[in-house]
Amino acid sequence: MKKPLIFALIVSGLFCLEATMELNAQSQTGIQKILVAYFSWGGNTRGIAQQIHQRAGRDRSSIELFEIQCVTPYSRNYNTCLDEALRDQRANARPALRTHVGNIAQYDVIMLGYPNWWASIPAPIASFLDEYDLAGKTIIPFCSHGGGRFGQSLTAIAKLEPGAKIGDALSVHYSGGSTLANDITAWLRKNGITAR
Ligand SMILES: Cc1cc2nc3c(=O)[nH]c(=O)nc-3n(C[C@H](O)[C@H](O)[C@H](O)COP(=O)(O)O)c2cc1C
Repeated sequence: MKKPLIFALIVSGLFCLEATMELNAQSQTGIQKILVAYFSWGGNTRGIAQQIHQRAGRDRSSIELFEIQCVTPYSRNYNTCLDEALRDQRANARPALRTHVGNIAQYDVIMLGYPNWWASIPAPIASFLDEYDLAGKTIIPFCSHGGGRFGQSLTAIAKLEPGAKIGDALSVHYSGGSTLANDITAWLRKNGITAR
């Protein structure tokens, strides 16, 4: 009497497992549309964003790269840029943006890249988050830094987009070095995003 019962339990267990695996496979390869939006002053975040753009998504049509640029760029002089960034952070500034996303509604996932500036997000990232309502979407931050990792940046993003889900964030030391490609692949998988 016991054997058929155990057999039935195993079969139904296997059936559930298969259904779960199928669901996971669907979310891995599903029709998620991804925007890689980034702000970069010195080029490190740009390089990381380009690598993410090359590696993420089911195919090239499911992912787009977008650079957040200011109407008035920050000074190319490092010390002056430090001053300007601090001035903007203290003033809670929202610098005007020169670039705009055409149709934000089409994206399910926004991979949001920025350098750590004064232990938080650069002001243009705040401008970007103010411009678009990302409620219901997933924001996956990636942050290039000089040792301070994310600082307060993840809290700042969550505060500006309370309706969005914040994914597992990636911090990269400056331009990332030789492990960057593997780090990006592992991070994409952790977030359930297909890596090419
Ligand atoms: C205005 C400014 C402020 C910065 N503040 C920090 C900081 O607080 N903590 C940190 O670890 N790195 C800080 N950095 C270093 C940058 O995060 C780092 O160099 C990063 O790789 C720059 O990325 P980018 O080349 O895309 O601009 C700062 C750099 C600048 C220009």
